[in-house]
Amino acid sequence: SKKVRVADALSSKETGSNIRIQGWVRSVRPQKDNLFLHVNDGSSLQPLQVVASSQLNTRDLTFGCAVDITGTLEKSPNKRQNVELYAQHIKVVGECNPVDFPFKIKERHSLEYVRQFPHLRCRTNAFSSLLRIRSEATTAIQSFFRDNGYVQIHTPIITSNDCEGAGELFQVEPAGHTNDLDDPNPHFFSVPAYLTVSGQLHLEVMAGAFSAVYTFGPTFRAENSQSRRHLAEFYMVEAEIAFTESLDDLMKVMEDLFKATTEHVLSCCADDVELFHKYIEPGHRDQVDLMLKRKFNVISYTEAIDILKSSSQNFTFSTEWGCDLQTEHEKFLVKHCGNVPVFVINYPYELKPFYARDNQDQPNHTAAAVDLLVPGVGELCGGSLREERLELLRQRLAGAGLEDAYGWYMQLREFGSVPHGGFGMGFERYLQCILGLHNIKDAIPFARFSRSCLL
Ligand code: 4AD
Ligand code: MG
Repeated sequence: SKKVRVADALSSKETGSNIRIQGWVRSVRPQKDNLFLHVNDGSSLQPLQVVASSQLNTRDLTFGCAVDITGTLEKSPNKRQNVELYAQHIKVVGECNPVDFPFKIKERHSLEYVRQFPHLRCRTNAFSSLLRIRSEATTAIQSFFRDNGYVQIHTPIITSNDCEGAGELFQVEPAGHTNDLDDPNPHFFSVPAYLTVSGQLHLEVMAGAFSAVYTFGPTFRAENSQSRRHLAEFYMVEAEIAFTESLDDLMKVMEDLFKATTEHVLSCCADDVELFHKYIEPGHRDQVDLMLKRKFNVISYTEAIDILKSSSQNFTFSTEWGCDLQTEHEKFLVKHCGNVPVFVINYPYELKPFYARDNQDQPNHTAAAVDLLVPGVGELCGGSLREERLELLRQRLAGAGLEDAYGWYMQLREFGSVPHGGFGMGFERYLQCILGLHNIKDAIPFARFSRSCLL
């Protein structure tokens, strides 16, 4: 008989056909003459109901065990499913001791609880839904860029630059490496090398040949933070676009990307998304619909500061012009804008990395940088126009003692330089935002953060 994925069996019209499924038992219900099983193979949230007559050997069928079942697919008398499988042969491929298995039948375990079992949590409904949504969102993001004429670039994981200049780098050397000062060349790559914090600079190189490029891969930051929105390893979607002279163009791409990806996920993973919107963060669907329906807001940093200052809320951090916006400020601003995402543009020049384009305004000196703030999360995207004017760039790099390290970067401004800009979107924060996930650790298959690198 034909091997079929559970998702395909559930939507099959071929009742009466003989099929074979392989998966894991999600529930066992003994009744008078039959044993009812739910079997899931990860292809859908909904399991396939299997009816096993007491004639079959059902002794080792427990919650969590792996099974290989052949039988006949029939129309189900029960309204909750279209079809069910009448088993002719059941083989327990891998037993599962229900006493030792950390998840219990019929219990809904909290996300915090299942997080303790990174090697097993994909067996729970919520986390398997999360991972299917994550996979589908990845595809949607790739399609968005492909459909809009971008070339995908695999930017390097190991790099010798610190794009953000925030000193949150993980250094890379062979295991057992000691920094022997007598060694004339103590580094494996002969220079200090790091795990990338952003693929931006490499994308800027490529935008100078392909006009519009993107990358979607892991990035690393040694943030000493146990916050619910920071990881040490996270995925970032980054785009870089040549011949861009205004932040409006970048903001349009960010908003379109957000909305297209979300529409796709809502329609292609309806069951999985519903689990989050119904049981984990009730009412969140309305929030998502609102974000999709409304045009995102745009305010300047200076306006943001005015809003914060004139509010009655007591903030922990300063709200003077020149201060970086903290999570509490970001949350307030999003609420102030009616819980619709808001772009904050034109930040103080001194707050932004060397690459951000100088607005050359006085007296409040700003750079053409933009952050997208979203409900529940705060900062989702960060981007800017890049300084394409060689002299201004040289001065800024020289001021930071970086002129030698970024010779190649300045050279890009000599050979066919064009105005350009780009942004990065944190992928796990995106998932938090659309699903209403409180903790970013539940948005990635294997979470890495300070003091924790399980598996
Ligand atoms: O704002 P960031 O630091 O911007 C850049 O790295 C730019 N070079 C991107 C670019 O213009 N190509 O990071 C971009 C986004 C943030 O807005 C946030 O969503 C996410 O990456 N992010 C993190 N997500 C999880 N854990 C962390 N530690 C993160 N740090 C940043
Ligand atoms: Mg940022």
